[in-house]
Amino acid sequence: MKSRDKGAVRRSLSRREALSTAAKVATGVVVAGVVAGIGGYLAGTSTAPQIVRTEVRTSLVPTTVTRTVGPAVKPMKIGVIGKSVHPYWSVVDKGSAKAGEELKGTGLDVTVTFWVPTKEDVPAQLRTMDNYISEGYAGIAVAPSDPDAIKPAIKRALDAGISVITIDTDAPASDRLAYLGTDNYMAGRAAGEAMLEALKTMGLAKPGGKIAMGTGSITARNSLERMQGFKDVVEPAGYKVLEPVVDNEDAAKALELASATLAANPDLVGAFGVYAYNGPAWARAVEEAGKVGKIAIVEFDATKENIEPIKAGVVYATVAQRQYFMGYYGVKLLALMNMWGRESALRFFIPRYPANRIFDTGVDIVKKANLRDYYDEVVGRGEPVDWTPE
Ligand code: BGC
Repeated sequence: MKSRDKGAVRRSLSRREALSTAAKVATGVVVAGVVAGIGGYLAGTSTAPQIVRTEVRTSLVPTTVTRTVGPAVKPMKIGVIGKSVHPYWSVVDKGSAKAGEELKGTGLDVTVTFWVPTKEDVPAQLRTMDNYISEGYAGIAVAPSDPDAIKPAIKRALDAGISVITIDTDAPASDRLAYLGTDNYMAGRAAGEAMLEALKTMGLAKPGGKIAMGTGSITARNSLERMQGFKDVVEPAGYKVLEPVVDNEDAAKALELASATLAANPDLVGAFGVYAYNGPAWARAVEEAGKVGKIAIVEFDATKENIEPIKAGVVYATVAQRQYFMGYYGVKLLALMNMWGRESALRFFIPRYPANRIFDTGVDIVKKANLRDYYDEVVGRGEPVDWTPE
């Protein structure tokens, strides 16, 4: 063994001895004049222990626990990465910001950054993840447009000590710590049920009737799961679901595709809007084609542009997500993971963790008939609303 190594071993032993001596002298109280400077002594730079500190505070409480006492926690940055510029995402932004304010109110130094690309943009999401990693963020909540492409970035972040969760759309094959959002398969089934009800109520029920779907992504899981859930309900009821038209979250393109689909399929009985702007696109296309009442529309989400066509009787129902809470609880969970450690926070937050890693934020099925009740409920829950029920 080289002499440097010997010194290192001795040094750690002697530190332990010195600390235990200090603890024996007075556990849990302030001790004055405790022997320190051991490193210099053992490294051979000095011949006797020196007093370099005049007091050592000992405590029976491990330091990892005392970290939870609010303001002592280091400043932390939390990043939220969405999928597109849309009022849907503005609500997520508001939820994240609200959580950040509340955390600051407890004395924590928290900065919340919300970011979205203009429309679906996988490389831009990955670049943003890498920026947050290199800027030393404490936590990231991301809605991956492509769950496979995001996997390595999630791993890089976790390896760097950054907690990562998914919101809005999941990447279950990645190492993400949890998913906070809609159960999209079940929500897709609910959309299917609403479609069957719409077709019946509107007198459009017809065996073999064609139903179209418009979506912003065929990689994001939320889109795939919604369409699967929808099909699993309407197909056994005898309807033929067309291949989805895909617009990459470009609302203008969604309208073009909806109009072209109506023109190419004069016998269409229903249309399903998978993402927030898809329902409004179907509504406008149907109005422009003079087919209101002849095509049943079911959509997702409850921004103003979703609600207006419901009021006007052009859209039959919407599956309203609670995306405010994806942002709000997403930020809170990440902050808690940073303060308490990942496992404690996840156990506190996620029902039946670790067997389950999903926090289902839930949905509401909204139609013209329950618009008022829904409005009251949303306001009561503290979610921001940019429309009125009448
Ligand atoms: C989806 C999001 C999407 C948004 C806006 C929502 O229904 O959950 O993933 O980005 O619509 O298009």
